[in-house]
Amino acid sequence: MEFRSLLLLTIMGFLIVEPGFGEIADLAMNDWLKTQMETIMNIGEKLKYVEKYQNDIEALEARLNGTVEELTEQKAEVTRLKKENEDMQTRLNATEEEIDKLKQSARNAAPKIAFSASLSNSGEIYKGPSTEKTLIFKRVFSNTGDGYNQDTGIFTAPVNGLYYFNFNTYGYNTHVIGALLMKNGAHQISTYDNVSTDGSDSSSNAAVLKLVAGDTVCMQLWENGRVFDNLNGHTTFSGFLLFTV
Ligand SMILES: *[C@@H]1O[C@H](CO)[C@@H](O)[C@H](O)[C@H]1NC(C)=O
Ligand SMILES: *[C@@H]1O[C@H](CO)[C@@H](O)[C@H](O)[C@H]1NC(C)=O
Ligand SMILES: *[C@@H]1O[C@H](CO)[C@@H](O)[C@H](O)[C@H]1NC(C)=O
Repeated sequence: MEFRSLLLLTIMGFLIVEPGFGEIADLAMNDWLKTQMETIMNIGEKLKYVEKYQNDIEALEARLNGTVEELTEQKAEVTRLKKENEDMQTRLNATEEEIDKLKQSARNAAPKIAFSASLSNSGEIYKGPSTEKTLIFKRVFSNTGDGYNQDTGIFTAPVNGLYYFNFNTYGYNTHVIGALLMKNGAHQISTYDNVSTDGSDSSSNAAVLKLVAGDTVCMQLWENGRVFDNLNGHTTFSGFLLFTV
């Protein structure tokens, strides 16, 4: 810039010379130089523009650099968010899988089936020997799922499964004490205490039976057997579903 101004001034210095000083040919030369000077001045003006544009371009470049920087940051942010989203997706998938499993196990969950009853629900019962051997447990503590019928003394399996049964018999030794656990009318397990002289006896037994829906389970007296119960709950019958099969 400084150099260019100096150059212009020098050229102008040469030109501001009285025409009469030189020869006539010098006048033509002078005109030529004038034209050259104008051209050079024009170039100077144009250079100013070029400089101005250069500044503008630099400013634009700075802005562009800023934009590029911002874009780079945003790209990094997008990458980070993408990764986060993927992680969330993975966790979501795992959670959904877990929920499916829970739903499945809820569907497979065993229905709630359990009962427990005692022979006498009032006063004293001394039952047997009789032809009506099925014991009807009248004092029902619980009967979830309504498998046990307190009018007949018969438990009917609501679903296929493995069931646990437990019973206790109590009586006096003038007779055989005990009862049989019957499945569909067939003897499974029993308690038994023969006639003796020691007053009274109590015994219990239990079994896990595989039943299909509709199978029946009940307690029956032995031939000539007798059992006793009162509100103390000596003679009892209980059962529940362990799990379905
Ligand atoms: C713009 O960025 C380039 C490359 O990083 C650099 O060479 C240049 O000096 C920067 N320009 C400005 C005006 O910051
Ligand atoms: C999540 O599950 C969907 C649908 O099953 C699947 O398209 C996607 O690839 C899984 N994503 C991950 C991260 O496991
Ligand atoms: C029970 O006792 C009676 C009389 O003592 C006897 O005849 C009978 O064989 C006994 N029964 C059993 C199964 O022990």
